[in-house]
Amino acid sequence: MNKIFKNHHRGLTVSLMVVFLTGLLLGCDGVRVTHYFERGALATAAPIATGVGETVFARGGNACDAAVAVGFALAVVHPEAGNIGGGGFALIHDGASGEVRALDFRETAPAAATEKMYLDKNDEVIENLSTFGAKAAGVPGTVAGFYRLWEEYGTMPWEELVTIAAALADTGYYIDAYMAESFEEHKKALTSFASTAEIFYPDGRALKTGERLFQKDLSRTLYLIAAEGPDGFYKGQVAESLVKTMTEHGGLISLEDLENYSPVWREPIHFIFDSLDIYSMPPPSSGGIVMGQILKLIEPYDFSAWTPATPEYIHLFCEASRLAFADRATHLGDADFYPVPDGLLDESYLQQRRSLIIEKHASSSAETRPGSFGPANESEETTHFSICDRDGNMVSITYTLNTAYGSKLVVEGGGFLLNNEMDDFSIKPGVANTYGLVGGEANKIEPGKRMLSSMSPTLVLRKDRPYLALGSPGGSKIITVVAQTIVNCTRFGLTPVDAAGQPRFHHQWLPDQIYLEEGGFDINTKQGLISYGHNIQERTPYSDLQMVFVDNDGLMYGVADPRKRGSAGGY
Ligand code: DON
Repeated sequence: MNKIFKNHHRGLTVSLMVVFLTGLLLGCDGVRVTHYFERGALATAAPIATGVGETVFARGGNACDAAVAVGFALAVVHPEAGNIGGGGFALIHDGASGEVRALDFRETAPAAATEKMYLDKNDEVIENLSTFGAKAAGVPGTVAGFYRLWEEYGTMPWEELVTIAAALADTGYYIDAYMAESFEEHKKALTSFASTAEIFYPDGRALKTGERLFQKDLSRTLYLIAAEGPDGFYKGQVAESLVKTMTEHGGLISLEDLENYSPVWREPIHFIFDSLDIYSMPPPSSGGIVMGQILKLIEPYDFSAWTPATPEYIHLFCEASRLAFADRATHLGDADFYPVPDGLLDESYLQQRRSLIIEKHASSSAETRPGSFGPANESEETTHFSICDRDGNMVSITYTLNTAYGSKLVVEGGGFLLNNEMDDFSIKPGVANTYGLVGGEANKIEPGKRMLSSMSPTLVLRKDRPYLALGSPGGSKIITVVAQTIVNCTRFGLTPVDAAGQPRFHHQWLPDQIYLEEGGFDINTKQGLISYGHNIQERTPYSDLQMVFVDNDGLMYGVADPRKRGSAGGY
């Protein structure tokens, strides 16, 4: 059985305050240790970024201050997904007012984008055009998003928060085995562009563990952002470098696109599951609605004889996912451009959908249709971080370049990678994106529109008090990872630490297949699912959940997914 699953029951998660100890523990048996914290706790995908968050707490900052500093730091120390050239979403619980808000800083399609921009004259998809190089990039939202967050909730000077990342990029840092492996793996694609190759492959070879990565241009860009706020990115020399890179490499983003970019506050998706208030991301993310559908569809069932690996449970969850992802493909897109139906989480509609689930019998995706309403799309490289503080603030942020290192193109002189988020649009009806997701009218390309996402930063409140902040990378699997972690905590009564370590499974309507995490499920589970008529396929452990939780005494803990190099910490 895979090490992760064998050890997670004993495992508590890591505090990066004890990096050395952590290294020793991980070296021994994969066990992770958590501590509780009184001022603030966080979990991120990169140890150095976790340390940055701890520093902010030590200097008296709140969860939003820490989020801004961590967000910029990840752009330096987790370049596969941390970014300033991408976008994302934040869910915020304001401890003072009790209000939960969703901030959308997703990329937008450039004004010059057209519905068929990735098709040739025969309407065939041009390979890699939506995933590789300048044309794959949407207008970045990260810098504007973090600034908006800071403007409304920050307490420390912006300049101080951004300067931590700028300094890290300038002085460089020692890369770990995880990054060395990643650079090796992505060498071919990343060395296609000179501006990218010279940073990550300075002597024409991948940096090795223990060597230092310097990012001088990125540092300069970050210092400009520190000094000038979003204007340091969306106007002036950085903006001009970005547009010059576009012009040279056939991209579409213009100075006007950059100037016009604006993040948007949105009403979160809210539903109650097992007496807990769950808040997640509304369109342009599909996360909140699809997760809400899955959890509400399975809520009435009796779980008392089940565990997270019981075939009946996996079957039920996957049938609910099949229905929910069928709705995703037809009904979901940027609600500012497409009339997303209102009733997707109504109990009367869900009852109708629930009646399609047959006990111990797999339905067929070919015959599963999305629900009807009036007129009215993997790799593993997004990143999530969760932060909470003693004032009841919680921040749950998922942001991304889309696939690993996004478009692979670094802005010359700017030092930062551009996203390839345009691939999240439906580039042709019925044609699957990187994550195997299909779509149509609701998610077609239109100028200024945001591409449909699966990112699901989520907050869970218990009796109006902070309980969990969680999220993950994983493309379409994000939604099922977050939903399963919640079910593991509530229905199966596991601690958040154990909940994060449980093996995962996934179904997304098309392809008609259940993905089971390799090493996580025994022969009885697999045999059970096959006997119900499911196609099963094993996949290497996936996603990288980062979660914080607050116990009944108000003590705060961080939980980093044991599958990767993430770490939890606090102050
Ligand atoms: O927004 C989305 O759904 C995707 N661009 C997320 C990409 C992702 O999670 C990649 N890594 N796991």
